Amino acid sequence: MNNVNIGFLGFGVVNSGVYDILTKNKQRILKSTNKNIIPKKALIRDIYKKRNSTNMIFSSNPLDIVDDPTIHIVIEAMGGIEFPRRCILKALNNKKHVITVNKAVVSKHLDEFLKVAKENNVLFLFEGSVAGGTKIIKPLIEECRFDSITEIKGILNGTTNYILSKMYNENISYDDCLKEAQKLGFAEADPTDDVKGIDVKRKINILSSISKGVFIDEDLIDARGIDDINLLDIKAFKKLNLIPKLIGYFRDLEVLNIGVSPMLVDNSHVFSNINNSFNIVSLKGDTKDSLFSSLGAGSLPTGSAILNDLMDILNEKNFDIDIEKNELDINSKLDGDYYLRLKKNREISKDYKYEVIDDSDDNYNCYRIFDTNNEYLKNFCLEDEFYCHILKGAV
Ligand SMILES: NC(=O)c1ccc[n+]([C@@H]2O[C@H](COP(=O)([O-])OP(=O)(O)OC[C@H]3O[C@@H](n4cnc5c(N)ncnc54)[C@H](OP(=O)(O)O)[C@@H]3O)[C@@H](O)[C@H]2O)c1
Repeated sequence: MNNVNIGFLGFGVVNSGVYDILTKNKQRILKSTNKNIIPKKALIRDIYKKRNSTNMIFSSNPLDIVDDPTIHIVIEAMGGIEFPRRCILKALNNKKHVITVNKAVVSKHLDEFLKVAKENNVLFLFEGSVAGGTKIIKPLIEECRFDSITEIKGILNGTTNYILSKMYNENISYDDCLKEAQKLGFAEADPTDDVKGIDVKRKINILSSISKGVFIDEDLIDARGIDDINLLDIKAFKKLNLIPKLIGYFRDLEVLNIGVSPMLVDNSHVFSNINNSFNIVSLKGDTKDSLFSSLGAGSLPTGSAILNDLMDILNEKNFDIDIEKNELDINSKLDGDYYLRLKKNREISKDYKYEVIDDSDDNYNCYRIFDTNNEYLKNFCLEDEFYCHILKGAV
């Protein structure tokens, strides 16, 4: 039997959940791996805050963990980019396996982490960074060994899915739904990354980079969020019998097509039933199509993704992926039908076929416009107008 010492970087919602799972399942893990897991130290900011785990050492000095030769595995769940990056690199260079769920740092530095991990013969794993408890990274890595992934679509953010579900089902305004989500702990005090689509951009970037085997610069990806959707839009969506979802997409076309956008699906689409903080990812490959779904956030679901990585390290599994930096052309163009909310005095070009969905409001009209694309609408719409793609099909 070997003792395996764990060092946590951060001990908030996620890592305290990991600690609880580890403590509860210590014997089960011992039985299946013959390894005795010992949560040893945690890096935190506030050393005076009361913590539940009595037998761990808490420190506000990162070197106490990443330079400690007795720590074998480091689990990062702090948030941020530059500080966790430095801690992760130091831990890898000190030949510690690293697990993270921090999509912001993975989306920016995945190529560097994989390279340094390989040089040091340790693993860098990040299963929980994309869809919380939904296992998607490793199935995707495995699929990419023999299949080309041609398309990925996903509902990848629980906060926005909660807000959209609540707006649609209970007819409550965006601002009130956001406040409720913050009260329940689903949304951060500063919700910008979630509601503007930035969080989903990072996640679809990670999935796209794995699929292409090329590290993609997230700044090239166009992201729109949900904060422009109002109750007039919700009323029009209902008239159209369509349901709003924030979707990240990747298509391996001649020019790589990646983006994040609110979209409308009808109730035959599998995404239509994914409500509240559930996530879903659909993959289309040359050999098959697949769906993956589970809770996208929260202490225990995300903790379970970390445990999954931990078990792979203990079982000495190898997830060899090569992701190289390369310049790629990217666009986010989506052809098809769109929902459009325009100011009353504005006219749609005669080049497009459209139908009026709702003209009862004093300031705006709502339309369905056929056979257009987001590039045209992005240039055409004014700041307080809104458009979103109507996604066809069932998956
Ligand atoms: N929450 C979720 O459901 C979820 C799901 C998937 C991924 N994630 C990702 O997991 C990460 C952590 O999320 P969380 O919800 O667990 O956050 P959290 O509850 O705010 O916890 C963050 C922890 O990191 C510590 N910390 C932050 N910055 C630090 C610094 N500069 N130096 C030392 N310690 C620092 C904090 O210390 P104090 O305790 O002293 O404040 C706290 O213990 C984020 O990257 C997030 O995107 C979260």
